[in-house]
Amino acid sequence: MITIREAARRLAAAGVASPENDARLLLRHAEATGADPEALVAARESRVPLQHLVGSAGFRYLDLAVGPGVFVPRPETEVVVEAVLAAIPDHPQPRVVDLCAGSGAIGLSVAHEHPSARVDVVEVSETAVEWLRRNLGALRDDAQERVRVHHADLEAAPTDVDGQVDVVVSNPPYVALHERDLVDAEVKDHDPGVALWAGEDGLDVIRRVVQRATVLLRPGGVLVVEHSDRQGESAPEVFAAAGLVAVSDHLDLTGRPRFTTGTRPS
Ligand SMILES: C[S@@+](CC[C@H](N)C(=O)[O-])C[C@H]1O[C@@H](n2cnc3c(N)ncnc32)[C@H](O)[C@@H]1O
Repeated sequence: MITIREAARRLAAAGVASPENDARLLLRHAEATGADPEALVAARESRVPLQHLVGSAGFRYLDLAVGPGVFVPRPETEVVVEAVLAAIPDHPQPRVVDLCAGSGAIGLSVAHEHPSARVDVVEVSETAVEWLRRNLGALRDDAQERVRVHHADLEAAPTDVDGQVDVVVSNPPYVALHERDLVDAEVKDHDPGVALWAGEDGLDVIRRVVQRATVLLRPGGVLVVEHSDRQGESAPEVFAAAGLVAVSDHLDLTGRPRFTTGTRPS
């Protein structure tokens, strides 16, 4: 059996960012499941994401099933959920819409962590929706019952809550096409393109999300949108141009600009 030390050495040589951590998790997974440790290490050497190899990604309190065809949820998105929970008003059954929901990381976390929020999750990719439904099925019953899944473009669903939503949240695609060479092999080769690319300045989908939110939100409702660490000024400008007020930008736990919030005026 390959040792953690040898696996870590090979992963480091292959350019993996956290070789010791990945080596430990892969060998632990092999021991727990009977999978071939050599095959797992070789796949990670070829830069298949760790989460695809072990089959899940930890995100806040959830273990989300992930694999080919769905974006792997990132730790930096966890603070976005905090912002949503902080913006949910203190009334029974607040409404939250998660646009571009992927595996369900944000929307399912809100349903899991809030005792009564009703959550609409909207995702355009059929494969991503399959992973999302699987993750929804793993939530406790009362949380599951408060979630509606829409396999649709962000502009097409939900159709029955215009002007009634308390919080719209999104972690949309936001990588600019010219940033292609800055993206790690795990991301470029294994996260779906539809989850990443968003036009020349990376703001194409953020612009659509902001427009859509102005329709969905009730007066006083809040929009929360994740962006890249290079969009800490341009994303708030999109919010302000759409007429949102109290617009502010926020840092993630590593101190980088990460998401914008704004309010629909009353
Ligand atoms: C960066 S991923 C984020 C996924 C998830 N929210 C998360 O934080 O892990 C963006 C997601 O948006 C979806 N998407 C892209 N364009 C969309 C559109 N026009 N309407 C709905 N979903 C879209 C992609 O398929 C992908 O799952």
